[in-house]
Amino acid sequence: MSALDPQPTAEPQTSPEPAAEPHAATDDAPPAPLPQLGSGAMFDRIARRYDRVNRVISLGMDRGWRRRTVRSLQLGERPRVLDVATGTGDLAIDLAQMVPGATVIGLDPSEQMLAIAAEKVARKQLAERVTLVTGDAQALPFASCELDAATIAFGIRNVPDRPRALRELARVVRPGGRIAVLELGEPRRGVLGWFARFHTRHVVPRLGALLSGAREYAYLQRSIAAFPPAPEFVETMQASGLHVVEVVPLAFGACTLFVATPAEDA
Ligand SMILES: C[S@@+](CC[C@H](N)C(=O)[O-])C[C@H]1O[C@@H](n2cnc3c(N)ncnc32)[C@H](O)[C@@H]1O
Repeated sequence: MSALDPQPTAEPQTSPEPAAEPHAATDDAPPAPLPQLGSGAMFDRIARRYDRVNRVISLGMDRGWRRRTVRSLQLGERPRVLDVATGTGDLAIDLAQMVPGATVIGLDPSEQMLAIAAEKVARKQLAERVTLVTGDAQALPFASCELDAATIAFGIRNVPDRPRALRELARVVRPGGRIAVLELGEPRRGVLGWFARFHTRHVVPRLGALLSGAREYAYLQRSIAAFPPAPEFVETMQASGLHVVEVVPLAFGACTLFVATPAEDA
């Protein structure tokens, strides 16, 4: 329902998503491949439209979900926090605004998404406390135990090697520090789940395509459907050196917040 991920137009994927699609073909030109998933290049293409479309198709709920994510970290007074896949910086900004003593690093491979984030950070006069860096969740440029907490919102689906990214999060956060993963999924049960599924499958791709003109959005629901159910993702987290302390379904299960600490025996 939120966090617009441009997705390949290839046939429905199993996770992780395939790296190429037939794209904007003309009669005599071969289809151009989409940029490689996990590189950020795909998000470069939609960066200017991302925030507007995100707000509309999530019915504004993405903001509340990010604030809930910040609260789940139970931060102290002067924490150093990493926001992985920061994109246009909304969660990094929430972290800095909700925890006035925090210093935040927003990391993302997409230069264009980071350029929007930098504009927003400057506009909100947070540049002294929010640093933006290019990087990949699968190889974080930080020493072990260097950070007090870390987040990744609507980002883990885009990472080709999810266990590796989760292991990296477990590595860079100090013992006892919290790691929050916010991600969309398809609700499996119930009447309200049916509405959420309908929204994801039918409303999200149409609205996204209508508002943004990017036909990649039509495939958002496929990546959501491909994301594993919460219990399965919890297993992946645990197998990746994380101790899961809380799993919070949001919007009838359309979104889930997973909260963990580095496992002591990892
Ligand atoms: C749907 S956006 C989420 C942005 C932001 N966290 C939010 O809450 O709106 C997904 C982001 O994941 C980033 N991304 C893609 N591959 C990545 C990777 N390997 N490592 C880190 N971030 C990645 C994209 O560049 C994009 O900015």
